[in-house]
Amino acid sequence: MPKTILEVQNLKKYYSQSRGIASRFKKAENIIPAVDDVSFYIKENETMGLVGETGCGKTTIGKTILKLTPVTSGKVIYNDTDITHLPAAKFRPFRKQMQMIFQDLDAALNPKMRIKAILKEALTVQNRLSDAEINRRIDELLEMVNLKKSKLNNFPNELSGGEKRRVGIARSLAVDPRFIVADEPTSALDVSIQAQVVNLLRELQSELNLSYLFISHDLRIVELVSHKVAVMYLGQIVEMGMAGRIANAPRHPYTAVLWSSLVDKETSEVERAIIDVDDNQWGVFDFERPTTGCRFAPRCPVYEVKGHPEFCTNPSTAPELHKVDEAHHVRCHYPLE
Ligand SMILES: Nc1ncnc2c1ncn2[C@@H]1O[C@H](COP(=O)(O)OP(=O)(O)O)[C@@H](O)[C@H]1O
Ligand code: SF4
Ligand SMILES: [Mg+2]
Repeated sequence: MPKTILEVQNLKKYYSQSRGIASRFKKAENIIPAVDDVSFYIKENETMGLVGETGCGKTTIGKTILKLTPVTSGKVIYNDTDITHLPAAKFRPFRKQMQMIFQDLDAALNPKMRIKAILKEALTVQNRLSDAEINRRIDELLEMVNLKKSKLNNFPNELSGGEKRRVGIARSLAVDPRFIVADEPTSALDVSIQAQVVNLLRELQSELNLSYLFISHDLRIVELVSHKVAVMYLGQIVEMGMAGRIANAPRHPYTAVLWSSLVDKETSEVERAIIDVDDNQWGVFDFERPTTGCRFAPRCPVYEVKGHPEFCTNPSTAPELHKVDEAHHVRCHYPLE
């Protein structure tokens, strides 16, 4: 039985946001429930996909797991250790094992450093290594991510998007991690390059026994790389199960909308908007139009068809994530058949 490497229990991360002009005079703020009571676990050598529109809280989950931002409440357990509130010094040994591939291609790459210096820095941040050892490890990393040695003398802005992504991956591999949060690793890349990155991550997983939290707004890519998938909507997991089931037999209306929008991508402009990262703001918590009960109700086709059942929007009967099948959980009063 593979071991659980990461477990997230009832994770909450609320941000506060100052509101309008009034905020200058008195403390007025909106609380954004960016991550609202999220629980899941990832086994060794497993990929868990996290999918949902921009603003639904995916990156925030990744950052709280890696302690790049503190939790509001809940627990993060890595390899049987509760790391949620570990002080920096005690967290250091875990930091090596847990890495993040950032969505922004340039985030981890200092524009003033050549690729060789970037990789050297990553290799030596926690370890003292001889020059010969550094060169050997750099060659190893280049081979792992299929990057030409000639690129070592380049600056990041001289590389293509795909090459930058490979350097970013090499950089996170430098410390021999066991668990990686890959945050939209294929975004901003051409489709053919996306496939290469996905294949690379899969190869690395089997070579190095990695576990991934794979974040994307694109259910097609998530289905391709993940063993299991969690679908998020406004800070909550609305459906979770094995990847094939989530993609081919979704039970939550939101997953069905998300999936059909991908399948019929060419046919509908409105549906295309659902997966358009830059323009789409539906996933962002809207304080002008607050929802009660089920957060998906304002967009839910089933809620429409059923004639706006009060059961869906009454705060006291908000749907909980419940089991609908073996290893398949859905947050909806009327799961699809
Ligand atoms: N540092 C922050 N301060 C305030 N609000 C934030 C911050 N980071 C993210 N948010 C808000 O939290 C929500 C979730 O954001 P994020 O985790 O980036 O979503 P995703 O990665 O799914 O696009 C959004 O409403 C976003 O505006
Ligand atoms: S609980 Fe009601 S509103 Fe929410 S997703 Fe299910 S059917 Fe739609
Ligand atoms: Mg994000």
